[in-house]
Amino acid sequence: MGTNWESIAKKIEEKEKAVVLRSRGKIPYTAKNHVFDDRSARKDICWWTNGFYGGMLWQLYHSTGEEIFEKEARVIEEKLDTALLDYNGMDHDAGFRWLPTSVAAYRLFKNPESKNRGLLAAEILAGRFNPNGNFIRAWNDWGDGRDTTGWAIIDCMMNLPILYWASDELNDPRFKAIAMLHADTAAKNFIREDGSIRHIVGFDPATGEYLRDYGGQGYGEGSSWTRGQAWGLYGFTLSYLHTREQRYLDTAIKIADRFAGRIPEDGLIPVDFDQPAEPAYKDSTAAAIAACGFLTLADCVSDGRKYLGAAEKMLSALDDKDCDYDPSHDELLTRCTAAYHDAEHEFPIIYGDYYYIEAIWKLTGRELFIW
Ligand code: GLY
Repeated sequence: MGTNWESIAKKIEEKEKAVVLRSRGKIPYTAKNHVFDDRSARKDICWWTNGFYGGMLWQLYHSTGEEIFEKEARVIEEKLDTALLDYNGMDHDAGFRWLPTSVAAYRLFKNPESKNRGLLAAEILAGRFNPNGNFIRAWNDWGDGRDTTGWAIIDCMMNLPILYWASDELNDPRFKAIAMLHADTAAKNFIREDGSIRHIVGFDPATGEYLRDYGGQGYGEGSSWTRGQAWGLYGFTLSYLHTREQRYLDTAIKIADRFAGRIPEDGLIPVDFDQPAEPAYKDSTAAAIAACGFLTLADCVSDGRKYLGAAEKMLSALDDKDCDYDPSHDELLTRCTAAYHDAEHEFPIIYGDYYYIEAIWKLTGRELFIW
């Protein structure tokens, strides 16, 4: 018998009702001993993942109508104002932080405060565009000697939707134009001939010349960091959804076909498709994000069955082998990995939970469109 997505969705809703009640005021990144941490203090408020728990709460509010989810999502949105005012804390992850929080709230309630925050985040992201190379600069320097002025990363494809949204809201093509210039640069410079993707590309910030690529959070240069493949798959699909430009769909399909062909028999996704067989580190965030990409792509093509099948295979594996539905534990996914060469692997990470819920919500007709 196939996986029962509806019963999974109900289990998640029940669990998250308990989680939200004991996590009031928190902005979690991970869980230790089954208890969420909290990144809402001033020193952590700019952390790039701080929009995902808010996004989970809006998805849960959308599906259940329970007020507690709305109340806590609004608390998080207000806390993030500190990050919006912090120049150094504002890297390119404006989309990851304000689409699942302020823009989600605005989609539901059309309230001017949330719209204002979303537009400010879009302005800041647009301000990171480098017209010499037509790319959005990823990060500010970290003070460790590395010059990141010319660095762009594949993850940014998921930040572009806040630019598409801003253009739509303001009836102003500037934001969309920047998003498309960046997407075109990414298609040309990040996607390899075989459909796999580089994580970081360094350009000369003054001339725009391609200088080199970096292994980033994957195994190494030339490898295929799975979360980066997933960001690219979902990101190009979203650029297609927002622009209807065939070239973005073609790119998404190329990435998707390469990814689908590398899903292991057991459906569990490694940290990098090119990592050594041992240690066999897993990254369930990559599975959940890619599943969202495959499900969205399936609706953009005339026969999406193979993409639906790829998503279902990974989601069934997560449900079966990697999900903690115990309402007394805060996390959902248990085996997420931030980067291959980190000391720690296979632990809960909030964006894994977010995208797992988004994928299950897509399959059960519950989704609030965020991106
Ligand atoms: N965007 C950073 C990451 O995927 O870890």
